[in-house]
Amino acid sequence: IRHSNPPHLLTLADLSPAQITTLIQNALAFKYVYKNVSPRALMSSLDKRTVALLFSKRSTRTRVASETSVKALGGHPMFLGKDDIQLGVNETLEDTARVVGSMVDGIMARVGGHHEVETLAKYSPVPIINALSDLYHPTQILADIMALHEHYAPTPTPPRPAEGEGSHTSVLKYFQSTVDPIKSLKGKKVAWVGDSNNISNELLVTLPRLGMEFSLAAPKGYDTVDERVWKKVTEAGTESLVTLTNSPSEALVNADVVVTDTWISMGQEQEKADRLKAFAGYQITNKMVTDAGAKEDWRFLHCLPRKQEEVDDEVFYGPRSLVFPEAENRKWTIMACFE
Ligand code: CP
Ligand code: NVA
Repeated sequence: IRHSNPPHLLTLADLSPAQITTLIQNALAFKYVYKNVSPRALMSSLDKRTVALLFSKRSTRTRVASETSVKALGGHPMFLGKDDIQLGVNETLEDTARVVGSMVDGIMARVGGHHEVETLAKYSPVPIINALSDLYHPTQILADIMALHEHYAPTPTPPRPAEGEGSHTSVLKYFQSTVDPIKSLKGKKVAWVGDSNNISNELLVTLPRLGMEFSLAAPKGYDTVDERVWKKVTEAGTESLVTLTNSPSEALVNADVVVTDTWISMGQEQEKADRLKAFAGYQITNKMVTDAGAKEDWRFLHCLPRKQEEVDDEVFYGPRSLVFPEAENRKWTIMACFE
């Protein structure tokens, strides 16, 4: 992230495919070294540094991944929940960004409206990472890309490090020369069946730029793609790789990967009854996907937390599901963002 300009991560739309590739290579190296060599072999790039985790909404994965990653890199994660500090309640976001940013080395922020994380980025003197806004979820989609890459191109075993060379450096060098997520994912079709939301937005501005097709089926009334998101798609010139429809079977035909998310995102709890009605017929089941003509070896992703209404247990816990490697990869990809 410190290599991007400005050094914030609000959406992957702001990173080039080459920068995304670098993050995935780094994440794979962190995972390999931590699990197969030792956590002690990781480079301590956050030694003596503090990263503030400003979360105004609940989180399991993003919080655990962020806290453990900062610590693994030798830094201090400082969790600040919505009841801990004056985040936009008794003090403006601008003042919070200036003050917290003057005392820490980076801020990971989970907010409501996307404008909140933009304000933090505008006024913070240190890098801001978007840990989820109503518009985007960049660190989630890095984990999705990593899980798909690992599925389609299993990670090779790196050679032993040369004499005097650290294992992290040698693994990273090896992955930089052998790992190419764009090569392993190009041409794959990803079908989203569910709500048009922050997760589908992030996929929409990212996957087609890696050469993947992305089709989105959402029911009428829940199918609008935010104009800020669509602008990114047109700027990237990737409209031809995108299909927007109200028909799950149209989205699913020939799909390699099927993705969904909750129909009721955080903050939409009062719309639950209306949403359950509107999304009738959208639950992912093996029958639905097979009948629609997805590829025989289709796989399933979900960012979690999951409710049974959007995907049944057979798919969610079945052999096609990559959801738990996907969830674990939140850690390695977030570590790569912090590095
Ligand atoms: N996928 C995800 O962001 O999960 P959490 O809300 O638990 O962090
Ligand atoms: N769309 C969900 C994602 C949670 C990780 C939400 O915003 O609540």
